[in-house]
Amino acid sequence: TWTMVNIVEEQVEAISAAIGPSGRAICGLSGGVDSAVAAALVQRAIGDRLTCVYVDHGLMRQGETEQIERDFVAATGADLVVVDAEEQFLSALEGVSDPEQKRKIIGREFIRTFEQAQADVIAKEPGAVDFLVQGTLYPDVVESGGGTGASTIKSHHNVGGLPDDLEFSLVEPLRTLFKDEVRLVGEQLGLPPEIVWRHPFPGPGLGIRIVGAVDRERLDILRAADAIAREELTRAGLDRGIWQFPVVLLADVRSVGVQGDGRTYGHPVVLRPVTSEDAMTADWARVPYEVLETISTRITNEVDEVNRVTLDITSKPPGTIEWE
Ligand code: XMP
Repeated sequence: TWTMVNIVEEQVEAISAAIGPSGRAICGLSGGVDSAVAAALVQRAIGDRLTCVYVDHGLMRQGETEQIERDFVAATGADLVVVDAEEQFLSALEGVSDPEQKRKIIGREFIRTFEQAQADVIAKEPGAVDFLVQGTLYPDVVESGGGTGASTIKSHHNVGGLPDDLEFSLVEPLRTLFKDEVRLVGEQLGLPPEIVWRHPFPGPGLGIRIVGAVDRERLDILRAADAIAREELTRAGLDRGIWQFPVVLLADVRSVGVQGDGRTYGHPVVLRPVTSEDAMTADWARVPYEVLETISTRITNEVDEVNRVTLDITSKPPGTIEWE
């Protein structure tokens, strides 16, 4: 639309002016819409003086890393550094089943890895990177008492793990926008719909959707089941009306089943589709029975290790959206 064209042009101009003719910037991509749109705007403004960094922690859903690595790059022409840190994250998580412990480990490894990647980018051209791009939205600005949010550039910010005298300015081109506006800007910029319309997804990724310890085999099982659930929700045209649709693997639980002539002893998965405005409260989504049936049949047919599909019908409160 006309308005979105305006927002894009205005922002690109403001970013160019703020970063100047020779400034360089770094942006961390999470796989989500906010960081992708922020990066795409800055890329339009300063081209390959922007370097994007994506840490692949191995806890993403099926196809998500490729969406960044291939489709985001194809759509924007952005310069992207991908850090393959799967091995590192999985060995740090080995044997850990406590949810908060998982979060702590994933958060720690993430910061460590991102800062190392950042330092590597800077080392290529010492002293030249002055700006850090972040996908902060208007509601975040208001929540943290940040005033009108009119400016693209926020105050100086000392990024931990780097030399003390190295200061970044934060570039936050989405500071005046709400989520739905960010999606429209993303469409305007030609980003892939899978990124633009992606549901919110937790930073610790599938690591907190496996109840029990996380390993590669369990992640693969969950990824296969999750991909089917998302695919069927999208096929039914329901994904934009649903806030989030976690699929949870109960990795330490087994139940008896029967398939053909054989007895099975597999894992259950939980479908957790919810509606919500802001994730503070949520309701279980009334997904039509036929869609649930298709998801259940496909998961039990196509994912060998899963022999039971259950539906979570708890609102928040008392439940949370995620199981961990
Ligand atoms: P809960 O499960 O508390 O989740 O109802 C509320 C929202 O927050 C997301 N979530 C997280 N996001 N790191 C994140 O970045 C986390 O550790 C985390 N835990 C929950 C959840 O997906 C939902 O959108």
